[in-house]
Amino acid sequence: MVPGASMEKYDLVVIGAGPGGYVAAIRAAQLGLKVACVEREPALGGTCLRVGCIPSKALLESSELFLQANQRLGSHGIKCTQVELDLQTMLQRKDRIVTTLTKGVESLFKKNKITRIAGHGRLTGIGKVTVAAGSDRTDLEAKYTLIATGSVSSTLPGVAVDGDRITTSTEALSWPEVPKQLVVIGAGYIGMELGSVWSRLGSRVIVIEFLDRILAGMDSELGQEARKLFEKQGIEFRLGTRVMRAFVKGKQAVVECEGAEPIFADRVLVAVGRKPNTENLGLETVGIKLDERARIPVNETFETSAAGVYAIGDVIRGPMLAHKAQEEGIACVEQIVSGYGHVDYDTIPGVVYTDPEIASVGKTEEELQKAEVPYRKGLFPFRANGRALALGQVEGKIKILAHKETDRILGVHIIGPRAGDLIAEAVTAMTFGASSEDLARVCHAHPTLPEAIKEAALAVDGRAIHI
Ligand code: NAI
Repeated sequence: MVPGASMEKYDLVVIGAGPGGYVAAIRAAQLGLKVACVEREPALGGTCLRVGCIPSKALLESSELFLQANQRLGSHGIKCTQVELDLQTMLQRKDRIVTTLTKGVESLFKKNKITRIAGHGRLTGIGKVTVAAGSDRTDLEAKYTLIATGSVSSTLPGVAVDGDRITTSTEALSWPEVPKQLVVIGAGYIGMELGSVWSRLGSRVIVIEFLDRILAGMDSELGQEARKLFEKQGIEFRLGTRVMRAFVKGKQAVVECEGAEPIFADRVLVAVGRKPNTENLGLETVGIKLDERARIPVNETFETSAAGVYAIGDVIRGPMLAHKAQEEGIACVEQIVSGYGHVDYDTIPGVVYTDPEIASVGKTEEELQKAEVPYRKGLFPFRANGRALALGQVEGKIKILAHKETDRILGVHIIGPRAGDLIAEAVTAMTFGASSEDLARVCHAHPTLPEAIKEAALAVDGRAIHI
């Protein structure tokens, strides 16, 4: 220890205050542990709150309202003339929402008596963490340490990200003007959400995707429907196209793809996935070796190969989703304190907040076919749902996949209005091991969007009422 540096002792030191880390810290404090949480960013909340889920949802909402005022309110008999975009106000609103939430985490820390330690945390041995903030250093000791450092944007070889013309999602949340032409590399969650934002605000958006489909990993029937709807909205796709190089030339970016003419753009968004943030964590000091995808291997209790050192969220296996990290954070500390903690990985939903929204839980049809699981499928289109009609959002459908013999629900896939909210019912049903018959027999208020879930469940048995 350097002279004058402090040494503090805790039950648990969490490195990283994203959704995984801050939730774990709060749950541990609730369970009576003395907790410190180390965070190097000035604001708490991690990628999700600061530069991910929350600001992107704020912009998705604002840009959707702009589009409605421009194109859709007319059909309701509401005339909007001279609709103007005030991008600065839109961005400021987004920033205010982020500040409200990150400050909210600060007060939760205070309420739960969690010590916040600012700086970069690094393991220096089992139960030892050193936090560096400028020239200051704090040494911490803890019975347990939890790594929850999340992930960072991946880049592509040959693509020169300069943070201005060629950027990751972080910068794409704050561009000061609407790019005339935007190239998005990668048709995943980020590419489709932020591509939608800027397309609605007026950009010509070209999405380049290496695979022959968008939203890989989602049920392909929904993926195909989503692509058609996005194309109707004006988004262009170059599927089966590999980006070889992207660079800035003058005031423009140039994107070169295999076997195609170069594309010029005002801005390029690189959205080709994220990678675990496992660098400079001192993992070698406790003997942790990363797996082939630079993730930290853990056992079912989230303990690493080093006793008392745990890891959760984007740094370990599984989908890189905020709610998955939160579940793991809670399960991890409950396991430490009580010996029991559990995450049901079969019921982690995924949501793409485009218009329409796309939401999914459980197995896709392709996964069931590949595993040769016998299943029945129920489909129900939103155009046959009264509430969807009243909302003027009739595109999309619900698909329920249930085991052919047991009728247990294996997967639910929704593309349509408020799919991200609707999926919660499916997650609840699956968590309780429901059959499609169970869902079909639940009374749903009329007229509501969830009625479409009931109808899709009835359709599994060929007895939907309204189709
Ligand atoms: P992603 O993995 O969803 O999609 C990346 C896409 O880029 C893939 O389709 C891939 O085939 C494509 N790609 C890779 N190399 C390419 C190349 N050279 N040329 C063209 N295409 C190429 O990753 P994304 O969208 O960056 O998201 C990262 C993570 O963040 C995901 O794990 C996602 O779960 C999470 N996320 C979740 C959100 C949500 O829950 N709504 C929103 C945003 C992100």
